[in-house]
Amino acid sequence: MFSHKPVGAVETTEAAPAKINLALHVTGQRTDGYHLLDTLVTFTEAGDVIRIHDAPGDGFSISGSFADVLRQATTKENLVLKARDLLREAAGARARPVAIHLEKNLPVSSGIGGGSADAAATLRGLRRHWNIDIADAELAEIGLKLGADVPMCLARQPLIARGIGEDISTIDDMPVIPLVLANPLKGVSTPEVFKRLKSKTNPPLEHRDDNTWMPFLTKSRNDLEIPARKILPDIDDVCDLLRKAGAQLVRMSGSGATCFGIFKTIEDAKSAADQLRRQRPDWYVQATKTIGGPAR
Ligand code: C5P
Repeated sequence: MFSHKPVGAVETTEAAPAKINLALHVTGQRTDGYHLLDTLVTFTEAGDVIRIHDAPGDGFSISGSFADVLRQATTKENLVLKARDLLREAAGARARPVAIHLEKNLPVSSGIGGGSADAAATLRGLRRHWNIDIADAELAEIGLKLGADVPMCLARQPLIARGIGEDISTIDDMPVIPLVLANPLKGVSTPEVFKRLKSKTNPPLEHRDDNTWMPFLTKSRNDLEIPARKILPDIDDVCDLLRKAGAQLVRMSGSGATCFGIFKTIEDAKSAADQLRRQRPDWYVQATKTIGGPAR
């Protein structure tokens, strides 16, 4: 087990759950090029972890299955450090030097939050660690500067996001959903997927009747799936194998390439994940379940 914390130092730990777009409708485009969305989002128990402790000077370290991919990118581009710097500007003198450790368990550039989830966990974690009085709304404004998905990752509970992702309505009655996440470990560029989208003015999510989650999900879609499949045909293979493993509904999350399959029970999800791992040992495959209800 990796440990970077000096003996006796107080550590703040913050989970960075994966973000799943259960449905994503592209309803328009802003004049600055960003797309308007109507997206149903939830979060999973699977995710990255941020650990923070005081240090003589700022530091940053990474461990976990996907640490190497991030280490190859320049540190300056890391959203964790951008989040730290932005919050420090807002926090002033209370923002003492910190060592931040990122346990990178989620594949990078994969449509399930990744960098946005890490940035959001850094903002939440540092707000606690520095004990600063910044309201959720202000934290979301800071988050939006880092990426369109950061405000929803800050909320980390089932929600519908509109605008480019910043107009959030939380949902308190979504059940816990067993899932398998699968990714062929080939990245897809988000701007490229949006660029290839044929129709940018699609219908929004339909109205949901009470207690009818599966029919509601079945009626919805991810508008980014067709352009993403054109860029990366492996996504077809991912969806096919999830379906053959018994998923009730299969869909891509975000701009891909991670797809999820919904299963009846966590046991079903675990055995489907075992089957997929045997079939495609070089993929990222993870059985997990969503975090239901309001954020704790
Ligand atoms: O905001 P973020 O850095 O996550 O977005 C990456 C890219 O994805 C943007 O530069 C933009 O090209 C595209 N995007 C978009 N509409 C959104 C979100 C992202 O066009 N709502």
